[in-house]
Amino acid sequence: MTERLTDDAAGIARAADLLRHGQLVAFATETVYGLGADATDGAAVAAIFTAKGRPHFNPLICHYPHAPAAFAHVEGPALARALADAFWPGPLTLVLPRRVTCPISLLAGAGLDSLAVRVPAHPASLALLHAVGRPVAAPSANRSGQVSPTTAAHVLAGLDGRIAAVLDSGPCPVGVESTVLDLTGDAPFLLRPGGITREAIETVIGPVRRGIPPAAAEASRTLRSPGLLVSHYAPDLPVRLQATSVAAREALLAFGPPLPGAATMLQLSASGDLREAAANLFAALRELDAEGQALGLTGIAVMPVPTHGLGLAINDRLQRAAAPRDN
Ligand code: TXA
Ligand code: MG
Repeated sequence: MTERLTDDAAGIARAADLLRHGQLVAFATETVYGLGADATDGAAVAAIFTAKGRPHFNPLICHYPHAPAAFAHVEGPALARALADAFWPGPLTLVLPRRVTCPISLLAGAGLDSLAVRVPAHPASLALLHAVGRPVAAPSANRSGQVSPTTAAHVLAGLDGRIAAVLDSGPCPVGVESTVLDLTGDAPFLLRPGGITREAIETVIGPVRRGIPPAAAEASRTLRSPGLLVSHYAPDLPVRLQATSVAAREALLAFGPPLPGAATMLQLSASGDLREAAANLFAALRELDAEGQALGLTGIAVMPVPTHGLGLAINDRLQRAAAPRDN
């Protein structure tokens, strides 16, 4: 079921074609194999979470063929440009504010205002990214809870039959994931050590702190989601789950045939399709929050979503959105 492709011109063309058609393709980067999907296609991104069996929607790294393509989608302050000049292509991921025009699916960024971007160094991944012509969202190509794969055989051991293809480039030269550096705040924060050392980064931009930026830590605390390395977007309006009726001044987030009486309503999936619901989730929450506030509504009522398959991740995210807050 899963095509094995060699990383020659024909294999790369086939892999690019599959990605452009919303399919999942695993490919080698210099760090580990990534499980790629068109980052602008919410349904394709949702399929990543299904294939990995991820219970949460973690934000994914978007891969670009060169720095200008990345900085077209995220803001690129001087520090970021200097790091890109020094280390791209290479195993450094930069977390930066999304531009308002950024076309990346909100699901790929787990609804955050920031986006993780990188330009990988592996020739096969660069050739693939050039051929696709779109950013590719890719977490490590392993089942949730398993270690990152550094060969095509590792990928197939976890994902055979669950993804369209794997582009085999042999073993990954670096073998550990990229370094993740947060540049969204006043000071750079090292979120994950990886293929580029902290010392190397500090020679370019000066001191880097280790840990979670204060803003993200604060957001995690108020969301009561300890253990999360990054904060998640939470609506300003209170969120009420498992709604079986709608109050007079509530917005409705529907799943399947909508409950009557909502002041305004958005659909996760009219047909009850969990993949479609996942692709719509973050955008729908943002839109209902903005519209509900504009209309002076008191909250967002969310209809029950089943807990099988992607529903587990959807419910996890909804519970975080509905968690009590201190303010
Ligand atoms: O080397 C790598 O980075 C590999 C290859 C395939 O590129 N990818 C990888 O992806 O390791 P993944 O999904 O396994 O890890 C992504 C990391 C996670 O720790 C995630 O929390 C963080 O990046 N991340 C992604 N977007 C973020 C954001 N907007 N803010 C903070 N952290 C983010
Ligand atoms: Mg991983």
